[in-house]
Amino acid sequence: MDRPVGIAFVGCGSVMSGPYTRLARQLRERGEVSLVAACDVVPDRAAFVRDELGIERFATDYREIITADDVDAVLVLTSMPEHGAIAKAALEAGKHVLVEKPMATTLAEARELLAVAERSPGHLVCAPHVVLSPTYQAIWRHLHRGDVGRIHLARARYGWAGPWWGQWFYRSGGGPLFDLGVYNLTTLTGLIGPARRVTAMAGTAIPERRVDGELIKVEVEDNFQITVDFGDACFGTVTTGFSMQSYRGPAVELYGGAGTIQMMGDDWAPEGYELWRNDIGAWQLHREQDPHWPWTDGLRHLVDCIRHDQQPVIRPEHAYHVLEIMIKAIESAREGRTLDIESTFTPPTFADDGDRADAHLLHDPTH
Ligand SMILES: NC(=O)c1ccc[n+]([C@@H]2O[C@H](COP(=O)([O-])OP(=O)(O)OC[C@H]3O[C@@H](n4cnc5c(N)ncnc54)[C@H](O)[C@@H]3O)[C@@H](O)[C@H]2O)c1
Repeated sequence: MDRPVGIAFVGCGSVMSGPYTRLARQLRERGEVSLVAACDVVPDRAAFVRDELGIERFATDYREIITADDVDAVLVLTSMPEHGAIAKAALEAGKHVLVEKPMATTLAEARELLAVAERSPGHLVCAPHVVLSPTYQAIWRHLHRGDVGRIHLARARYGWAGPWWGQWFYRSGGGPLFDLGVYNLTTLTGLIGPARRVTAMAGTAIPERRVDGELIKVEVEDNFQITVDFGDACFGTVTTGFSMQSYRGPAVELYGGAGTIQMMGDDWAPEGYELWRNDIGAWQLHREQDPHWPWTDGLRHLVDCIRHDQQPVIRPEHAYHVLEIMIKAIESAREGRTLDIESTFTPPTFADDGDRADAHLLHDPTH
């Protein structure tokens, strides 16, 4: 494509008005996108998109903007229960789609989305975009060079005290697993491979919350411990909840037969990684290669793929697999049993980057 990619936003709340707006402005400054339309069910959001982004075309019904000729890509940034239907309608209109996580909140809806994506000319890029982070890719390269051997155990964690906006976060189709644990499961399955089984414990730790200034009843589980069986006696755990005030440990720990590797920070905002290799016998600390890497990077990637006619690295089958794990984790916790995972996917692979990772080595005890 030799003109800027025309973007339409659907859902102009917290995530759109902050992080996606920042990246969209940068892409527009580089001449890669034009921001042509926006939609939110709340009419007041028209003023924000006009004043901050110069977008004059605004609708309260997404169907009025997704078919427009000058819209090439639709960004679905609404509350989670709306994602599946809007993403499907945009793909059916022949558009490229970026959908925030999760891709849908039921497996039936997600299956339909995969089927439509298969026959649509548009790409479907599903958040979270963690596989694009330089730190994720550096860790992937270590694993695939065999630096820590075959992975036997893994742990990942992402949580916080929970949003004080958006009551939908605490209703059916919301909750911390779809909102936060989804990052950890995307990272673990991307690095280790597809899951075979899942078992979980979950509960509602904080049954009432003040959200949007109102005291509400929490209708979903807000606290999870999940165990994933990757086969060949490899097990991973994910700790997630709107129940965590703070933490300082690694986001992801991978224990292999010849070493350990752990991602610092969070997997959506990594702060480098630490590597133990038995053959070296000491920890190597790698500083963050790109401290400014934005977790919205899937937008840049989608625009690149449209402009250069390439397939996205982020695959919808991966998002579907993670959704199946999450939905079955919730079922497992409610029913008190372990459930099989039926879907599978091929994790993304990355070219060798030579010695680039070593250029970021902070502490190398071998020198
Ligand atoms: N807030 C974060 O830090 C964050 C980070 C990463 C991803 N996300 C994801 O981004 C999405 C949005 O989160 P948020 O925090 O911005 O929520 P939010 O509630 O602030 O914003 C959602 C917006 O979507 C609008 N909306 C709802 N249904 C709609 C429809 N049918 N058509 C058009 N607009 C509709 C709402 O009016 C609201 O303005 C969620 O999927 C969330 O998981 C949020």
